[in-house]
Amino acid sequence: MNAVMSLKGRDFLTLLDFSTEEILDLLALAADLKAKQKAGVSYTPLSGKTMAMIFEKPSTRTRVSFEVGMIQLGGQAMYLNGNDLQLGRGETIADTARVLSQYVDVIMIRTFAHQKVEELAEYASVPVINGLTDDDHPCQALADLLTIYEAKKTFQGVKLAYVGDGNNVANALLVAAAKVGMNVAIACPPGYEPKAEYVEAARQIGEKTGATVVVTHDPLVAVAGADAIYTDVWTSMGQESERKPDYLFLHCLPAHRGEEVTAGVMDGPNSVVFEQAGNRLHAQKAILLSVL
Ligand code: CP
Ligand code: NVA
Repeated sequence: MNAVMSLKGRDFLTLLDFSTEEILDLLALAADLKAKQKAGVSYTPLSGKTMAMIFEKPSTRTRVSFEVGMIQLGGQAMYLNGNDLQLGRGETIADTARVLSQYVDVIMIRTFAHQKVEELAEYASVPVINGLTDDDHPCQALADLLTIYEAKKTFQGVKLAYVGDGNNVANALLVAAAKVGMNVAIACPPGYEPKAEYVEAARQIGEKTGATVVVTHDPLVAVAGADAIYTDVWTSMGQESERKPDYLFLHCLPAHRGEEVTAGVMDGPNSVVFEQAGNRLHAQKAILLSVL
């Protein structure tokens, strides 16, 4: 059955809610829509449909790609900043869901707590799409699957390594990979593991699909034999208080820009590599004076 038909009316909150077949159908449809777009074929089945997009966190890709996507399919999308809605002044999620359902055909939301998206979906009579929560980023993961499939032509035997914070993106990737039978390894610092529910769910799914699921603190273990390596910001939106703006970047030099360090880090505000090199002079003079 065609994915558009079989998923009609469904919310898209997490890939946990979708079967392997449904995800593969979505990917096949995405590939087809991409081919149409590249061929310049006009395809406007959503003519007359409107999407509300609520953003309680910033966005470039999600906002623009959803809006452009709606326009290309013949519909319209409206950007709603959460702070400018009555939602920002205390109107409940449930009431917002019921009101927006009177006006629009689909609601996309980017917010903090995942429960907020679930509540919106519970009270909306139109489908709700998760454009990122603290726990999940299913639209991103779907696009990631498409990207990997385009390059590898299969998921079987493919290994995806993710090195970084065990955040929303990591949670979503765990599930996405497990669902399609792709091996996945996540390396994160201690204390920054993906959510236990997602890891457990991915392991259980993997037992059925044949995907291996590894969560480790060792990036070398994760990237060993990997076909794709993925990372994300250290500090996700909403976790800014955890950021360490005063970290120092040191390097004994010579440096291979673009290999062990990017030029952006080398020349960035946290880099002290040239002061460090200069201090060789002063430190060694101190040694000489002391030992002689
Ligand atoms: N990857 C992603 O979701 O990007 P934006 O935050 O720009 O939407
Ligand atoms: N983990 C990041 C993803 C941004 C697209 C965040 O939540 O900020």
